[in-house]
Amino acid sequence: IRMLERHRLERLAGNTSPRVFEMEVFDRDGNLVPLEVKTGPVLKDGEIVGIQVVARDIRERREMEQKFLQAQKLEAIGRLAAGVAHDFNNLLTTILGYVDLAMVDASEGLASPDLLKEIKAASLKASVLTQRLLAFSRKTVVSPIVIDLNAAISDMGKLLKRVIGEDIELIVERAETELAVRIDPVLFEQVVLNLAINARDAMPEGGKLVIRLRAVDVDEDYAAVHEGISPGRYHELSVSDTGTGMSREVRERIFDPFFTTKEAGKGTGLGLSTVREIVESQGGHIIVYSEVGKGSTFRVLWPPAGEKACSVRAGGEQQWLGGSESILIVEDEESVRTVLKNGLERAGYRVFTVRDAHAALGLLGSGQRIDAVLSDVVLPGGLDGVSLAERIRTMHDGVRVLLMSGYAGEVVIDGGRLANYRLLQKPFAMNELLDAVREVLDS
Ligand SMILES: Nc1ncnc2c1ncn2[C@@H]1O[C@H](COP(=O)(O)OP(=O)(O)OP(=O)(O)O)[C@@H](O)[C@H]1O
Ligand SMILES: [Mg+2]
Repeated sequence: IRMLERHRLERLAGNTSPRVFEMEVFDRDGNLVPLEVKTGPVLKDGEIVGIQVVARDIRERREMEQKFLQAQKLEAIGRLAAGVAHDFNNLLTTILGYVDLAMVDASEGLASPDLLKEIKAASLKASVLTQRLLAFSRKTVVSPIVIDLNAAISDMGKLLKRVIGEDIELIVERAETELAVRIDPVLFEQVVLNLAINARDAMPEGGKLVIRLRAVDVDEDYAAVHEGISPGRYHELSVSDTGTGMSREVRERIFDPFFTTKEAGKGTGLGLSTVREIVESQGGHIIVYSEVGKGSTFRVLWPPAGEKACSVRAGGEQQWLGGSESILIVEDEESVRTVLKNGLERAGYRVFTVRDAHAALGLLGSGQRIDAVLSDVVLPGGLDGVSLAERIRTMHDGVRVLLMSGYAGEVVIDGGRLANYRLLQKPFAMNELLDAVREVLDS
């Protein structure tokens, strides 16, 4: 006991009322240990004959308090990230829109298509970044569908090769049977990319990256040693590398947000925490094996979907669907408004634009013929896109509504209202917008 504390205890000896306070003492090894101390007098015939001291080790409680603070800090960061992602998405919608328009020019020999393709690739990469931020802060709208893991990996072939570079050999072992899993395909790609990029970073001198897909049966024994996993059949994605491997200390922390061993500017430490969040939100599990100097394997176990996979999105060729109807764009961000107007006009539509819901209702009330309203969910002026859509439904029956959002906050989470409308997630490519517009017009 330190001197200061000793004086405190001695002073209490003459005190008749019970006390509770915290103090610190050294243990045998010289570590400072926080204690919660309760003292009270021991009385005999009304006389104080002693002092009773009960001390409790509160190291665990202190640790919990620390963790709670940490969690609060993370929550704040998550909120910040969601805000950043929102603005970033608006920017990307603009870039992607212009790029798509310029690509049409390019096909007529007016600009260099190669350069434009690069711009588009870079923009898409940036959009993956925002999706990552959004997924991290749980504010993303996920649209799970049933996919076949084999097909999904095949689709990523080119992308994976580009990401891992030439010094690393990529081996993909597919399963012979379909591996149906219910997940948002964008999130699935994010999982694979994050694991592949980590593997690449662990093999600066080159090596082998093996992606294996198969159906596995988890038995009682295995489940017993892996917390949270129940026995049964799973569809597995495993990503193995022949890289540096991880020490136990590193392995224990890899899923912590912001934990990274990479130099500043290289890693954010959000990769694996995002992966785990995605995997677990879909009822999956992730297990890590690693040996220093040999390499690492990340196994992701997904619950089988129990139904056949949808055919994979038809990528590649752009097909521009147009029309001649009148469309009203409600969007407060000028650059987004302009690019959307341009795109829709090129597809043949007659386009009006306003920047908030009140102006939109004004125009609709003026008798101007509007066939569809394309509105952002988050709008200034106190009336959001969903409320606007609801008013349109009651007052202007027949006018179609298409909502777009880069950030679906509480509206989506406490559910329902938004679910009644077709929603386009920003950023989107021009052909996606045109498809969606045609779809609501024809519905
Ligand atoms: N395949 C691997 N081999 C060796 N170490 C790995 C591997 N995957 C992850 N790690 C370790 O886990 C840490 C955390 O990974 P995580 O993906 O979360 O963040 P990061 O890769 O450092 O940064 P970010 O993914 O945000 O760019 C890495 O810094 C690295 O030390
Ligand atoms: Mg990473």
